[in-house]
Amino acid sequence: MPSSNRVLIFDTTLRDGEQSPGAAMNLEEKLKVAEMLEELGVDVIEAGFPISSNGDFEAVNEIAKRSKTSVICGLARAGVKDIDRAAEALKPAKRARIHTFISTSPVHMKHKLQMEPHQVLEAVVGSVTRARHHVEDVEWSAEDATRTDFDFLCRCVEAAIKAGAMTINIPDTVGYAIPAEYGALIKALIDRVPGGEKVNFSTHCHNDLGLAVANSIAGVAAGARQVECTINGIGERAGNAALEEIVMALKVRADILPYSTGIDSLSISRASKMVSNVTGFPVQYNKAIVGKNAFAHESGIHQDGMLKNNQTYEIMTPESVGVAKTSLVLGKLSGRHAFKDKLEAMGYELGANALEDAFRRFKDLADKKKHVFDEDIAALVDDQLAHGQDRIQFVNMRVVAGTFGPQSAELELSIDGETRLGVARGDGPMDAIFNAIKTLFPHEATLVLFDVHAVTEGTDAQAGVTIRLAEDGKSVTGHGSDTDTMVAAAKAYVHALNKLLVKRQKTAPEALTAARG
Ligand code: KIV
Ligand code: ZN
Repeated sequence: MPSSNRVLIFDTTLRDGEQSPGAAMNLEEKLKVAEMLEELGVDVIEAGFPISSNGDFEAVNEIAKRSKTSVICGLARAGVKDIDRAAEALKPAKRARIHTFISTSPVHMKHKLQMEPHQVLEAVVGSVTRARHHVEDVEWSAEDATRTDFDFLCRCVEAAIKAGAMTINIPDTVGYAIPAEYGALIKALIDRVPGGEKVNFSTHCHNDLGLAVANSIAGVAAGARQVECTINGIGERAGNAALEEIVMALKVRADILPYSTGIDSLSISRASKMVSNVTGFPVQYNKAIVGKNAFAHESGIHQDGMLKNNQTYEIMTPESVGVAKTSLVLGKLSGRHAFKDKLEAMGYELGANALEDAFRRFKDLADKKKHVFDEDIAALVDDQLAHGQDRIQFVNMRVVAGTFGPQSAELELSIDGETRLGVARGDGPMDAIFNAIKTLFPHEATLVLFDVHAVTEGTDAQAGVTIRLAEDGKSVTGHGSDTDTMVAAAKAYVHALNKLLVKRQKTAPEALTAARG
């Protein structure tokens, strides 16, 4: 058993998480998430897969440049080109790690790699040696380890350790293992592989059977001292083990799980919201730790118990994961000073101009809405921060909806500072709005996701709309909020369109002017 009980948190939201269909993030969003992960106290940030695209290379490189405390990690297959590209992207990092992997299970070796086991073993040695050539900190993963022949897995792990890997990751790539089995696998590897006591074993569990967190914890109890996970559990298919669940399980059950992490649990709620926002993946209401209902008590018996003593139905407090009690903030008579104090208490630091703009928008909102809550303020400021630099801005809109006549929209957009009016009919008000946007900014993108949620309770609540647009196999996500759902939808659509422009500008700069017609 390892002598230390400190468990390293390896976050792969920006790599495995971003691989989930529709979760793509742009550079700016990745930088924001990486900064938040460092603040959260993540030990290792897997920032991307540098050979997979120029965008991934740039993201890993920029994150490496800005990193302060976390180890920045880049993924590479077992090939020279992959590993050299990862090393190049990671060059500016204060602390860099190359994570190289190859499949070891019979089904993967035969059908995916079309390699014989001895060739895979050679590739393990070759890839780890190459990576060690560039950096000291090398992690090796046996993809599909849980469906791998145990003796062969031992030989591969031994070879990786001999070649210089310091971390050995045992992925349950297809989410097939159950906790007792996964724990036994980790323990057997630590016990049997020569040199196993010198390296850090790591868990990497997918959630296909809903067991990713349970398997990861079984791995830790068996001796693993690194856990690979993602915020909100996003990731391939059913996702990865959720960071917040692992951290809080270790914290709340420290009585039988005596392990510590470096995570500041008070920042968990903010991290969850940020990742949900940038990916456009809503958090399921009953999701452990970060779901909207995770600390809600509905039944009379539970509410009665809670009023008497919160330990009757709460094993941790909402405050311990950074969920502030919903509070009535300010009204329309509140002044600039109170507004600024509130923003600071919520963790926002705005410059003088941005603060003035936010205050004006807050006043507008307070005119429309009787009670303004923390969530309203967060939606308003997030909207402003997200849309501030956009080349296309929503200005005004009038919509005809309902059963009397053809639905239509008149809409004003400002495109590079020039305000234009577009008018269109549609099959329903949303269709009319999106058609009006198309008359002003012709494009071929298709709408692949439209999600509406209420920011707070009550019929006067703001609507938060998330829209995903797809073009040429790439997708982007936009957000908008407003007390008028249709305005929120128009803002979200325009926001997504701006992101599409950034993507297009990188591949074909002339497309921007051409598309404006
Ligand atoms: O699930 C998996 O096996 C992976 C590896 C690349 C570590 O993500
Ligand atoms: Zn994975």
